[in-house]
Amino acid sequence: MSHSGYTRRKFLQQSALGALVAALPGVTLADNRSVNNKPSSTFNPDVELELTAQIAEVPILPGGNTHVFKYQGKLLKGPQHSLKSLPGYLGPILNLEKGQKVRIFFYNQLSEPCITHWHGMHVPQKMDGHPMYEIYKGERYVYEFEVENPAGTNWYHSHTHEMTATQVYQGLSGLITITDEQEQKLGLPSGEYDLPIVIQDRRFTTGNQLHYLQGRHQRMMGFHGDTILVNGQANSTIPVKTRAYRLRILNGSNARIYKLGWEDGTPLTAIGTDGGLLEQPENFPYIMLAPAERVELWVDFSGRKTGTELTLQSLEFKGGMSPMGGGMRRGGRGRMGMMSGGLAPGASFTIAKFKISEQVSDSPRLPEQLVPIRRFTAKDISNPGKTVPIAIGMRHMAFQLNGRTFKMQDYMDIERIPVNTIQKIRIFHDNQMMGGGGMGGMGGMNMMGNMPHPIHLHGQQFQILSRKQTKQSKHYDTVNKGFIDSGWKDTVLVMPGEEIEIIKPFQDYTGEFLYHCHNLEHEDMGMMRNFYVS
Ligand code: C2O
Ligand code: CU
Ligand code: CU
Repeated sequence: MSHSGYTRRKFLQQSALGALVAALPGVTLADNRSVNNKPSSTFNPDVELELTAQIAEVPILPGGNTHVFKYQGKLLKGPQHSLKSLPGYLGPILNLEKGQKVRIFFYNQLSEPCITHWHGMHVPQKMDGHPMYEIYKGERYVYEFEVENPAGTNWYHSHTHEMTATQVYQGLSGLITITDEQEQKLGLPSGEYDLPIVIQDRRFTTGNQLHYLQGRHQRMMGFHGDTILVNGQANSTIPVKTRAYRLRILNGSNARIYKLGWEDGTPLTAIGTDGGLLEQPENFPYIMLAPAERVELWVDFSGRKTGTELTLQSLEFKGGMSPMGGGMRRGGRGRMGMMSGGLAPGASFTIAKFKISEQVSDSPRLPEQLVPIRRFTAKDISNPGKTVPIAIGMRHMAFQLNGRTFKMQDYMDIERIPVNTIQKIRIFHDNQMMGGGGMGGMGGMNMMGNMPHPIHLHGQQFQILSRKQTKQSKHYDTVNKGFIDSGWKDTVLVMPGEEIEIIKPFQDYTGEFLYHCHNLEHEDMGMMRNFYVS
């Protein structure tokens, strides 16, 4: 292991602090954390806002309110639409423009540490919400960055050391939209015709309180709930008019993968992925959407009768199996049961209904071309012959990347990336890491290769170069027509037996940038590492 770039002493201090904080959440230490709590006098923001992580009681299901964590927002400066608060537990939608300078005062009012990450955004290390910057109750962290991303849909969520899954589960997430001139010229549906669709699964007690997972096996799978929420509401029926809409869909779930499809078999028209708009609209029979992935759809309800409904479903698929080699156990203990309600991974269910409420005649036309994308080719790659590996493995009942679990500021030589380069990266299942894992009798050799992992890289968006099956997986044909590999991505779903090559720029900013599985239970178990960009 190499820690050059940081002194060994600093590394040890940080690790010890990390362990202490995990053991004693909420305890404030007179410490050497680097808390960025003062605004800079030379940064002149176009948009300035406060976001406070706090507890709240919100209506989700009929009956009593639900106790949640929630980002409360307050706009201090900038256009009124920059911040749009939502009912329920989701944080406000941040509506930003490319080129804007944004200052966010993040306050933690929770009795546990917290830090916020701007998922998909290209920002300096100190502004990226690395868990080393977590703050305690009563503290604040000041983020200042310029919006460099093009038009698209990003999001923010807590990224607290070993608490990301529980904090996001309890509510700490929200959408970010970005617009730019190029996009505005396209005349895409806007205002009330531009709909956020944040999909999450939860489980509730009979008293309407959030119920999280229990036990090792559920944790290995990642949390799968029995109640689908859209924008924080159950049983969503969304009224629409007979015209075109833009849907910004985010899978904000901890672990559940959706196979999006229209109930009546209408193809899905994608216009954007994680990092922005596609070059041109593309049709899919269904679209796979793993945790943290976004897809933007063009949906035209023209010609439908008032009162009719179009249902967005998650269709059945296989290959999202248990790491124990078998399917999920079903049923059991009613509402609190393990997988009651048939919502095992890969089951089919309704996500939301769109109900035609009004006939209108003015609908925009789907543009033939959206935005140009500069394709990276072999010529652009700074590391020919030295592809950066991301090996998905498992040892001692924990998922790992490149043979190691997360440590706060740890990186290996293979995780050092020269700044202002464009790197080819290969993401694959490392079956050799089974050796010495003590897996005998617990599902055999395929156990860890049996799970899909949505791999996310912080920093700039990447392009997918290739995707191939290195090991035949008999269920692959239930998912393989649903990948959008043509757009900008920051998260890629790696199915069992699959190997994916990507090309990613590491421009402008040095320091530690995370890469991890966005199955949040996996992430918190340590399936996360740093790239050290220098
Ligand atoms: Cu959305 Cu490091 O995460
Ligand atoms: Cu991220
Ligand atoms: Cu994973």
